[in-house]
Amino acid sequence: MEPAPGHDRRGEAPPRLDSLAGLRRKAPLLVLVAFCLLAGLWAGLLRLGLDVPELDASLPADHGPLMILGFLGTLISLERAVALGQKWAFLAPLGAGLGMVVTLFGGEIPGNWLLVGAGAVLTAAAIVIFIRQPALHSAVMGGGAVSWLVGAALWLDGRTDLTTFAWLAGFLVLTVTGERLELARFTRLEPLARNLFLGASAIFGLGLLLMFADETLGARVVGVGLLALAAWLGRYDLARRTIRTSGLTRYMAACLLAGYAWLAIAGGTWIVSGAAYGWSYDAKLHTVFLGFVMSMVFGHAAVIFPAVFRVAVPYKTAFWGHLVLLHAGLAVRILGDATANRDAWQTGGVINEIAILLFIAVVGGTAFRATRARARRQGRSPNLAPGLSAHDQLPSMPPAGDFEA
Ligand code: HEM
Repeated sequence: MEPAPGHDRRGEAPPRLDSLAGLRRKAPLLVLVAFCLLAGLWAGLLRLGLDVPELDASLPADHGPLMILGFLGTLISLERAVALGQKWAFLAPLGAGLGMVVTLFGGEIPGNWLLVGAGAVLTAAAIVIFIRQPALHSAVMGGGAVSWLVGAALWLDGRTDLTTFAWLAGFLVLTVTGERLELARFTRLEPLARNLFLGASAIFGLGLLLMFADETLGARVVGVGLLALAAWLGRYDLARRTIRTSGLTRYMAACLLAGYAWLAIAGGTWIVSGAAYGWSYDAKLHTVFLGFVMSMVFGHAAVIFPAVFRVAVPYKTAFWGHLVLLHAGLAVRILGDATANRDAWQTGGVINEIAILLFIAVVGGTAFRATRARARRQGRSPNLAPGLSAHDQLPSMPPAGDFEA
């Protein structure tokens, strides 16, 4: 079914571009996202064993939650709140960002409770979205929200084992795959494809539950689920077709397909190594978090930025730089894990950090320059007076659907 005129493929109106005024309203949340990312990256360097100042004794232990909940959790729940359009839903990104900051500055218990509360708000938002649109993809994304809630509750309980981080990974994996399923609807999926997706995500969920009873068996089942999800995405996702196009669409497809390949490698690693905590622990986590999730973030930035912050991100060839760096760095790192080579592991880890920082610099810089240039062309300052809509200043924003691979 064709979308209504002026609406994207999800039936949503295209995002309005409000120039820097739109950004200003979300600036406090953006500051929290940036803080968590930078603190998480610093903690990553410490976890690599590099000789950098420790800053805070608890920082290394907070690396995972800083990246998953503070950085990505704040961004994703902000995107959900914007999509839902209800003020209370913004308590999720606020709780996630603030929760991590409070945790870092010594308020571990209240901070962890804020993270649990944010997961509860996101779950409530997912329920409202499901009631509005009772579809498999809404249910899967709801499963992602519940995964956050469980993972954050385990962390509050003082657990820092594979089970805890598997549940937190569940938040990202189910959110992202649910999102891809939603877009795959436009290729008129046959019932078999939907059932296969349901089966793959059910195996993944079952594995998470099993980890409570038997961590090794559960981890292996999680691996089967990851492999099945990767196979499904590789077979049914639109990216397989759009990789043959050009420009932004092709770049996005490359991000997605590379992400699916890493998800398959992750599945194999979880199956083979089970709940082992040696070198494979790093590989199990970062094939998912960097190979799959960050690749998807790189690919969706040009959609997320306009939808959430209402600023355009025109495609630049330079986008390929951080993408190649991310995957090359991860390959070196995983090779280091596989051969117990500490130098390769550290080098790959540092390249991963550079790739993420380059991504922020390139995408942020592109968005800022595009916004300023458009405002100049219109002969107005990008810093609008309060209450003045800049919609007219940025009239040629394509619908979000036009960006999607
Ligand atoms: C950007 C570069 C990154 C570097 C250099 C890095 C580094 C590390 C290191 C060295 C470890 C310890 C591994 C071990 O004990 O075997 C670790 C653990 C972990 N990382 Fe990363 N990481 C990065 C990105 C990410 C991202 C993007 C996420 C999530 C979105 C993430 C989530 C985790 C989690 C959940 C753990 C387990 C934490 C724990 O055991 O306390 N990391 N990371």
